[in-house]
Amino acid sequence: MKAIIYDSYGRAEEMRLAEVSEPEVLSTGQVKVLIHGSSVNPVDWKIRRGMLRMITGKKFPKIPGADFAGVVVESESFNFKVGDEVFGMVKATEGGCSAEKIVVSEKNIAHKPSNIDFIQAGVIPLAGLTALQALKDIAKIEAGDQVLVNGCTGGVGTFAVKIAKAFDARVTGVCSNRNIEYSIKLGCNEIIDYTTQDVYTDDKYDIIFDTIGNLKYRKAKKMLIRKGVYVTSGISAGKMINSFIRRKCKTVFVKPDRKGLIFLKDLVEQGSLVPEIQEVQPLYQLVTAHKLSEEGKVNGKIAVRIR
Ligand SMILES: NC(=O)c1ccc[n+]([C@@H]2O[C@H](COP(=O)([O-])OP(=O)(O)OC[C@H]3O[C@@H](n4cnc5c(N)ncnc54)[C@H](OP(=O)(O)O)[C@@H]3O)[C@@H](O)[C@H]2O)c1
Repeated sequence: MKAIIYDSYGRAEEMRLAEVSEPEVLSTGQVKVLIHGSSVNPVDWKIRRGMLRMITGKKFPKIPGADFAGVVVESESFNFKVGDEVFGMVKATEGGCSAEKIVVSEKNIAHKPSNIDFIQAGVIPLAGLTALQALKDIAKIEAGDQVLVNGCTGGVGTFAVKIAKAFDARVTGVCSNRNIEYSIKLGCNEIIDYTTQDVYTDDKYDIIFDTIGNLKYRKAKKMLIRKGVYVTSGISAGKMINSFIRRKCKTVFVKPDRKGLIFLKDLVEQGSLVPEIQEVQPLYQLVTAHKLSEEGKVNGKIAVRIR
């Protein structure tokens, strides 16, 4: 099968399209998926650059990509049969989704939302689950909550705004001035333009979701109500230490989660969650797609078309 591979850590140009052997025999509970669509997440290029080498080690070649949508072509699962349309994710540190096929556990997938195509479904799992796990599982979002989303226009941020709105929360989005109109279109009730305004205000929030991770917790906590929660997807040593010692400070580490995927599928089918896609790149242009993501200016997601 065709896959994007790299043989050492480094620049995007290290990646190339290659013919590799198909994923091996399935164990009980696993399925083989013919991938139609995938996406680029910042963790893909962080791994490629070697920033997580303590976890990702020295074994090469590596295939990037952590989420996908496609069709089951072999099954050792009672829950999924050949021909089922599914979407899901693997641990980003394992990768393997920038390829024509992948073998995954049934725990990592759910049936694809019926009202969107594979390209749209393939951008949802990692960023969508990050937003869902941060807002619902960690911050326990409720109707009427005041939610601040820092980085509301990125992959995680666009899902966070829409998920928070689906919970009937009121959302303040933090974005740059070029994205004010886009943030209003996403559904933000209020906007803070971080290029001209101070993000730290006297307003109070039930939840601050710092998708970027650049807010100072020391200052952000003053904007929380008494029972409020600050949660970030931007992983840093300082925030992780704070997560252990401060009740109101949390870090989300996204994990594959079938129940979460089903929750997202329902939101999509109800019409409350339409994934935001800035552009679609074919698999053989993954170098271009990674470079674009590395600029840190993507609105929504970069989708990768595999078939
Ligand atoms: N912990 C986890 O499990 C987990 C899971 C997923 C992602 N992450 C991490 O979370 C971070 C965000 O991921 P992502 O996929 O959303 O990234 P992304 O899609 O690349 O984010 C790009 C967006 O960030 C906005 N942005 C850049 N600087 C900003 C700033 N100073 N303030 C507010 N917005 C800013 C940009 O808008 P402007 O151009 O308008 O600034 C752009 O729309 C990444 O570091 C990623 O690795 C962690």
